[in-house]
Amino acid sequence: MARTPLIAGNWKMHKTVSEAVALARAVAAAADKRSDREVMIAPPATALSAVSGAVRGSRLILAGQNVAWEKKGAFTGEIAPAMLSDCGCAMAIIGHSERRHIFGEDNAMINRRIKGAMAHGLIPILCVGETLDEREADQTMTVLEKQVRRGLAGINIVAGDKLLLAYEPVWAIGTGRTASSAQAQEVHGHIRDLLAQLFEKGIAAEIRILYGGSVKPDNAAELMARPDVDGALVGGAALEAESFAGIINF
Ligand code: 13P
Repeated sequence: MARTPLIAGNWKMHKTVSEAVALARAVAAAADKRSDREVMIAPPATALSAVSGAVRGSRLILAGQNVAWEKKGAFTGEIAPAMLSDCGCAMAIIGHSERRHIFGEDNAMINRRIKGAMAHGLIPILCVGETLDEREADQTMTVLEKQVRRGLAGINIVAGDKLLLAYEPVWAIGTGRTASSAQAQEVHGHIRDLLAQLFEKGIAAEIRILYGGSVKPDNAAELMARPDVDGALVGGAALEAESFAGIINF
């Protein structure tokens, strides 16, 4: 089963509107040269509308860095699914470790966000990952299983392209310390087995599982060579056109 690799850039809280437009144009040019893979960027919400206009007609996919579960209303600081669609987004990152650990989002809230995204036609990217303490205590698979099961509770996936997962070990995010490709494969394989328990086996085989955590141009190819690593969710190295292009062209 061939899964088209997705190289995704999570810009986090970086880039003014003009900086974002310039970087997005450069990334779109790189994406347009590679019909064998998909490229996504998640700029800050303030830049989405301008970026969407600047890259219209390119192959570049846009995503929100998070999304609310309600359609509209008194939810200060939140962004509704339809608002992301209106800005050209097709996807939304949900449950990023920074949302979990800095802003206190739990699996129940993440589950609501995923349901909200799907109800409005956005493709969620559910992020999961263990802390260093959890890995050292041999809790990795237990923690990940809980995040996946609770994050996807009550959700039925009927087509493999309607959901993505991203495995981002917390100890590898922004630390320069990447999981080895063997460690990534071990976890990705486990997550896919779990997806096969939750959904039909054929669907589980289609769902793309990205790896994130200090992905750079020089380690991308080795990670991507693993059978269950279907792409990358990139932070720091996605903030410059040259390094991100190096990963797009792994
Ligand atoms: P880094 O690539 O900077 O480690 O960040 C990874 C990440 O959190 C992407 O969502």
